[in-house]
Amino acid sequence: MRKVSAIISLASLLLVSGAWAQGLKDAYKDCFKVGVALSGRNLTPEQEALVLREFNSVTCENAMKPGSLQPEKDKWNWRDADRIADFCRAHGLKMRGHCLVWHNQFANWMLYDEHGNFVDKKVFYKRLKKHIQTVVKRYKDVVYCWDVVNEAIADGPGDNPYRKSKLYELCGDEFILKAFKFARQADPDALLFYNDYNEINPHKCERICQMILDMKRRGAPIDGMGMQGHYNIYYPRMEELSDAITKYARVVDHIHITELDVRTNMQQGGDLNVDKTGAALTPEISARFERQYLDLFRTLRQHSDKIEAVTFWNLADKYSWLGADNYPLLFDKDLRPKDVYYKVLNKE
Ligand code: XIL
Repeated sequence: MRKVSAIISLASLLLVSGAWAQGLKDAYKDCFKVGVALSGRNLTPEQEALVLREFNSVTCENAMKPGSLQPEKDKWNWRDADRIADFCRAHGLKMRGHCLVWHNQFANWMLYDEHGNFVDKKVFYKRLKKHIQTVVKRYKDVVYCWDVVNEAIADGPGDNPYRKSKLYELCGDEFILKAFKFARQADPDALLFYNDYNEINPHKCERICQMILDMKRRGAPIDGMGMQGHYNIYYPRMEELSDAITKYARVVDHIHITELDVRTNMQQGGDLNVDKTGAALTPEISARFERQYLDLFRTLRQHSDKIEAVTFWNLADKYSWLGADNYPLLFDKDLRPKDVYYKVLNKE
């Protein structure tokens, strides 16, 4: 009898403390999905077990980008994307598709002829359509949403809101409209996202909202906004994050945080020229790091009526694109949960 009551009180203690939650996906099941970006090297038994315990959405960190999938015309490289998709299929995990059009890691051959000159816009669209539709159809059973266009808006001052990429040089803003239409034709059920960084910045947020409204007016099926979430321990302030979420919610029905990480150095955003030197983990830096993660999750929980998914950009510091010295994720360079992991789990 005493044993039974001991078990009951232990159980209620666990229940009250929230420790019965198995992982982030369980702790946050009433708020949003919790996702993770993976590359081929994450597919080890130890990491797979961690993914299955903690997350209920998976993104390919690189494997589904055009430059990875079709580096040359009609030469397809499905290996890593298929491995990750098959892992998800085997365990009933759904995926965020990333990404169909981006100026980086793009299948640049689509833009040029054999002499290195731009092809006619029509030729480019034909190639793009084939690429998008082949990829979207292949993963239709497992991918529930796609980042269709990534980072088409410029950061700097100036009147033109669009990034001056080769895509823009050839097509103007029309490639955005086309890409969304091609994706919708290939999978009418997938949610289609525009995805970008510095998305909290009021100036860029305004540009993105105007672009989305304009594209929708012209017939682009844009369902959602992907807020990349490449932050640091100083930025953003929570008021700014709240404001941005509120503004995006006025122009789209779905908002995801798509690539969350928090650096200890001063850089933030999507620049691929990453400074991998983090700040030394003094008590002050550690405290700021924890504070930032807890503030971020508190703010995201407050907006859980608008935010449907929060994805970390890789599983652990060991494999982060920012380098382990930037200390950016909830699991460390040895794949062990940091103190802040438990605090996020318990919604402190
Ligand atoms: C990054 C990957 O994490 C790196 O491994 C790769 O070398 C470059 O791209 N914005 C995006 C992501 O949308 O696709 C980028 O991912 C990070 C910035």
